[in-house]
Amino acid sequence: MRVLGVNAVFHDPAAALVIDGVTVAAAEEERFSRRKHGKRPVPFSTWELPEAAARWCLAEAGLEPADLDAVAYSYDPDLAPQPDGDITADAWEGLRTLFARRAPRFLTTALPGLDPSIVRFVPHHVAHAASAYHGVDAPSCVVLVVDGRGERGSHLAGHWHDGRLDVLAAQRLPHSLGLLYEEATEHLGFLRSSDEYKVMAMASYGRPAFRDALERAVRVRPDGGFVTESIALDALVPRSSGGEAWTAAHADLAASVQVRLQDVLLELAGWLHERTGERTLAMAGGVALNCVANSHLAEQGPFEEIWVQPAAGDAGTALGAAQHAAHAAGDRVEPMGTAALGRSFSEAELRAFLDVAAVPYERPDDIAEATADVIAGNGVVAWFQGRSEFGPRALGHRSLLADPRDAENLRRLNDVKGREQFRPVAPMVRLERAVEIFDGPIPSPYMLFTHRVRPGWAERIPAVVHVDGSARIQTVDAREEPLVARLLEAVERRTGVPVMINTSLNTAGRPMVDDPRDALECFGSAPVDALAIGPFLVRRDTPAGRAGRRRG
Ligand SMILES: [Fe+2]
Repeated sequence: MRVLGVNAVFHDPAAALVIDGVTVAAAEEERFSRRKHGKRPVPFSTWELPEAAARWCLAEAGLEPADLDAVAYSYDPDLAPQPDGDITADAWEGLRTLFARRAPRFLTTALPGLDPSIVRFVPHHVAHAASAYHGVDAPSCVVLVVDGRGERGSHLAGHWHDGRLDVLAAQRLPHSLGLLYEEATEHLGFLRSSDEYKVMAMASYGRPAFRDALERAVRVRPDGGFVTESIALDALVPRSSGGEAWTAAHADLAASVQVRLQDVLLELAGWLHERTGERTLAMAGGVALNCVANSHLAEQGPFEEIWVQPAAGDAGTALGAAQHAAHAAGDRVEPMGTAALGRSFSEAELRAFLDVAAVPYERPDDIAEATADVIAGNGVVAWFQGRSEFGPRALGHRSLLADPRDAENLRRLNDVKGREQFRPVAPMVRLERAVEIFDGPIPSPYMLFTHRVRPGWAERIPAVVHVDGSARIQTVDAREEPLVARLLEAVERRTGVPVMINTSLNTAGRPMVDDPRDALECFGSAPVDALAIGPFLVRRDTPAGRAGRRRG
C-alpha cells in the first residue's frame, strides 16, 4: 500500500510517504519554499498544499501520483464546524472547513494524474496520535496529544493496544493548553504558533509569581480533560514589544505559564496511567515540543518510558495520517527509526553545486577529522550531511557546530542566527558518554528533553549550559549516526571533551537549510568558518577556517 500523507490545514504544511508500512520520505514544505512554517496559520491559506514536498516524496520513491493507493489528509472537515451562510463568521471558520473539504480537488491540481477518490480525511488528533504510537517500538502504550486545536478539540488521550486506538478523553474547544501558551507567546512579544519555544527559554529566567492566577483559570477535570478559562494577561504584566525588550515580570509570566502547563500535563498523564496501567507514554501535538515539560513528566510522572514524536507539531500529522491509513488497510507499520527522512545529495551532485558556485573547496581524506580541526580551533562549522531532518530540530544533518568550552560561542551562534541572547544552544554527546556528563532521560536522540549538567562539567562546557543549569542534549548512537559519532570522537581527541554545540543550520527568520544551494547561501552570508558538505570542506579565510589545512 502506497500512502501519501498531507498536512495543510493550519501551518507547517508537510508531506510524507509510507510504502507497505515503511516511512520512505517526509519533508516540510518550508524547506522547499524557504518560507518559515510554510504559510500563515489563517483559514484563507488552508487551500495551500505542500506541493513541492509531496512531489519530492513521490520522486524519491520513483512514483507518479497515479501510482498512489491513498492520500491521507490530516483534518476531517466532517468533524469541523460546518459552513453556513456566512463563511466569514467565527474568524472564517466556515472557509477553513470548505477549503479542507475541497482538498481532493486542490490535490489533483497540484499532483496531476491523482485520482481524487483515493483521498481520505483523518481526524487531526488521530493523525497526531498515530505518529506517536506508530513511532514508539512497543506493542501497547498510552498516547497523549496536546496542541492548539484540531477540528473541534485540542487534546486526545488514548490507549493503543491490540492494533487499535481507544480514545479515552478528548477536550473540546475553546479549552486549549496550546492556545493558552500561544496567547502568552503573543503577549510576551513573540510570534504565536511559531515562537512558543522562546517562552519556554525565557521561563527559566523567571519565577512562577502568577501561579495562583494560572491555577484558578487552568484546571484538570475528572473526565481526563481540562478547563482553560481566559486570563487577562494585561492585568498580570503589560504586553511586551518582543526581542530583548523584556523585564523580570515578563519572565515571571513565562515561568508561571510553563509551570502550570507542566503540572496539568502531569495530571493528564497520571489520569491515563491510572486507567490503563501502561508503562509507556507516547506523545505528539505542538505542546509535546516543550522539552522542559517533557522532562518534568519523565521525572515526576508514573511512566517508565516516554517517547515523543520528533515532528510533534502539525508537520508530523502528514506522517501520522499516512501511517493511520496504512494500518487501516492492513499494513504492518514499522516504528520510526530516524528523523532523517528528507532530501540527500550524492557526492557528484554536491561537487556540481560547489563548481557552479566557484568557491574553493577541498576533499580531505576524512571530513570528520578535518571538521574536528576547525571546531578545535574554535571555529563555527556549517555541517551538511546525509538526509535532512523531519521536524524542527537539527540532529546532525543540517547543523551549526562549535566548541562548547568557550562560553562566548553562545553569543557567536546567536549572532549568526540573529536570535535573542536569552536563547540557549544545545549540546550533542556520544551516547556512551552521556550519563557521565548529563542527568535526565537517556538516550535522547531527538532533543525533546532537558537534562541537568553534572557537577564538574558545567564549567567545562559553559556555552551549552542554560541559565538554570540545564541542557537540552542530543545523544548520538554510533550505530545510527556513525559519521557524527566519529566527528565527536575526533573532537574529543583534540579538546578532551566529547561534546559539541549543535544548533540548526539557518540564519535569522529562515527555515533550516535543506539543499546545497541553501547551504552555500547560508555560508556566504553568515560568519561561519567552514562548510562541511558531504566529503567536501569549504573554508573561510579566518584563523579557525584555516585550522588543520595542509601546506603546499
Ligand atoms: Fe495539531
